[in-house]
Amino acid sequence: MTHLRLDSAGSTYLLDLSGNGLPRAAYWGSRLDEEASPAALACCHRPPVFQAGLDTPYHLNLFPELGTGFKGRPALIGEKKRKNWASLFCINTVKHEKNAVKIILTDTLAALELVLDIRLDPETDLLCRRSTLKNLSPDPYNLHYCAAAAIEIPAFCRELLSFHGCWTGEFLTQRSDFSTGMALFENRTGRTSHEVFPGLIAGTAGFSENCGTVFGTHLAWSGNSSFFAEVVPDGSRQIQMGELLTPGEMVLETGQTYTTPWVYAAFSHTGLNGLSHKFHSFLRRSILPETIRSKKRPVVFNSWEAVYFAHDLDQLKEMASKASSLGFERFVLDDGWFHGRDDDSRALGDWQTDPEKYPRGLGPLIDHVKENGMDFGLWVEPEMVNPDSMLYRQHPDWVMGLAGFHHITGRNQLVLNLCRNEVADYLFDRLNDLLSSHDIDYLKWDMNRILTLAGHMGFPAFHQQTRALYGLIDRVKTAHPRVEIETCASGGARIDFEILKRTDRFWTSDSNDPFRRQVIQKGASLFFPPEAAGSHIGPAVCHTSGRVTDLKFRALTSFFNHFGAEFNLLELHSDQEEELAGFIELHKKYRDLLHRGKSVRLDLCDALRNGYGTVADDQTLALFCIVQMDIPAQTSDRTVRFSHLAPDGLYRVRLLRPVDPSIHSKLSFPEKWMKGFTLPGRVLMESGLSVFMPWPGTGVLFELKQVNPI
Ligand code: GLA
Repeated sequence: MTHLRLDSAGSTYLLDLSGNGLPRAAYWGSRLDEEASPAALACCHRPPVFQAGLDTPYHLNLFPELGTGFKGRPALIGEKKRKNWASLFCINTVKHEKNAVKIILTDTLAALELVLDIRLDPETDLLCRRSTLKNLSPDPYNLHYCAAAAIEIPAFCRELLSFHGCWTGEFLTQRSDFSTGMALFENRTGRTSHEVFPGLIAGTAGFSENCGTVFGTHLAWSGNSSFFAEVVPDGSRQIQMGELLTPGEMVLETGQTYTTPWVYAAFSHTGLNGLSHKFHSFLRRSILPETIRSKKRPVVFNSWEAVYFAHDLDQLKEMASKASSLGFERFVLDDGWFHGRDDDSRALGDWQTDPEKYPRGLGPLIDHVKENGMDFGLWVEPEMVNPDSMLYRQHPDWVMGLAGFHHITGRNQLVLNLCRNEVADYLFDRLNDLLSSHDIDYLKWDMNRILTLAGHMGFPAFHQQTRALYGLIDRVKTAHPRVEIETCASGGARIDFEILKRTDRFWTSDSNDPFRRQVIQKGASLFFPPEAAGSHIGPAVCHTSGRVTDLKFRALTSFFNHFGAEFNLLELHSDQEEELAGFIELHKKYRDLLHRGKSVRLDLCDALRNGYGTVADDQTLALFCIVQMDIPAQTSDRTVRFSHLAPDGLYRVRLLRPVDPSIHSKLSFPEKWMKGFTLPGRVLMESGLSVFMPWPGTGVLFELKQVNPI
């Protein structure tokens, strides 16, 4: 076999297996017809032979190796007793089944086996790749790095989009040149991280939401990661992604294997929106558990910023009644409910209800919530323990650490060593007890500190801890399949496709500041669809930034996502209650569209605003939101061009929420806009509308409804 072709609805992936060694992707792009000649495709791009170069020029492949003379960063780094530091794999077997291929290769000198798993998702075009390495020799193989995938990026991709961030500032994006050298990203926090989300996008110069060719990659892993975009010294380009292994962490004894996390990758010739649609559809169809696919996302009330640790049963019941009357559908009791938990310095690990706050247990509150027609959710942070806890006093040896080093606390807590079976069993039993003895629909599963010296029996165990966490969640899910789980880690420090295989939504950020949230959600939306992204209306004075914002702006900011609120509802004035209830009602009315439609980010001429929307698959209905992030520099150039509408469709445009309180903008919005007016999709997309909003922290919501659907 010299070529192998995988096809999906919109793409073709052609592997060139003509050499004896590692295959290369001869083509990865739009779907080709059956007649396209593999041999012709394979010879489109050949590496040059030149005087000062190697006589057998190197061509980037699926797993670049040192043994071939590759000048860039190889896909495998490791050794056996200081030997076998370069690999040279040859194809052994190729197993091809519909849209998946497994290529098994061996390196006889190093006695290693490599399996490349490659799948092309038939519906969404997503390319899924991972690698498995097996040591066949009697000597242990010291593995330092094994790429899950190396992906060749065409030379015309000259720009990168990467992520950085912090607590209350997740998914911040950075644009940079994809030029000589390497842009290397490493995450050593033992969770997906606030700082280095494992996603990377490369594209043609100036790529935007709707323009340019882009390639996007994501490492689905909730632990340490290492990934980079490299311009190899010969000018070819690659992105590689893999797990970051600590020295000594992965030693393969005879017959042992190491399987990397999955890399999910996609391309788009229609800018970032095209890329996001593929990631969103794949996540919706293949990653998120059934619960999120088949159910409406209930509107959430969460107690955290409302009461923090000061739980008072009567007040909580009153708040639950109020929440229900305003239209909330799920009541989540956050941190503070368990034994002695009056602040964040104690009690983690002791998962019994606090008898002072809840003399008759959680039952009365849960019953009250249920009587009010809502789901009940509960906060837990299973992987952690406070030194000031019964659990720690009984089992100080259950935490991760390293002999000779002091324990480093973070938020006054230490990390339990899930690699020990008795620890994982203890946590499973506690969670199982809680879920078996209470009518709980939802767990908010938190993780509030990074791993530092993650030692298990003296060995580094970041990898093992991550796998053990997956094992624990899987066990809980298997025992309680009806219970939904939210992944939270001081906000959004554990959001990735692997954790979402076993959780149902994520807490995007601890920042409920709508200005900050707009930016965070925009970054997250590159990979994640809105229904998976928890977004709550916080208090008027934001607790993490001190900024004062209008309820309408806060509501509008959360509106498209998995909608909710977390502030003291009992402090609302009646007009604010009405406003909040109105937004909840409106959200429910459009929820199907918002959570099943195509999410779209708009290319706006004005960087001081944000524009996004959702368009139904059949393009008959769309909602768009435009928000003003700062005071505009000019008055007239306010054009907003919508996108992803049917060009020939006739749309009735209506302003649903003129949420800008400034008198100027009220005067600027024609009366007609409130009642509705009709325009062809083409006009809305090509010349657009002028939307004038002088006040930062204001926004508008448009409904676009096709009046002549075919
Ligand atoms: C983390 C979460 C918050 C809240 C607190 C409780 O910070 O991100 O939403 O649950 O923990 O301690």
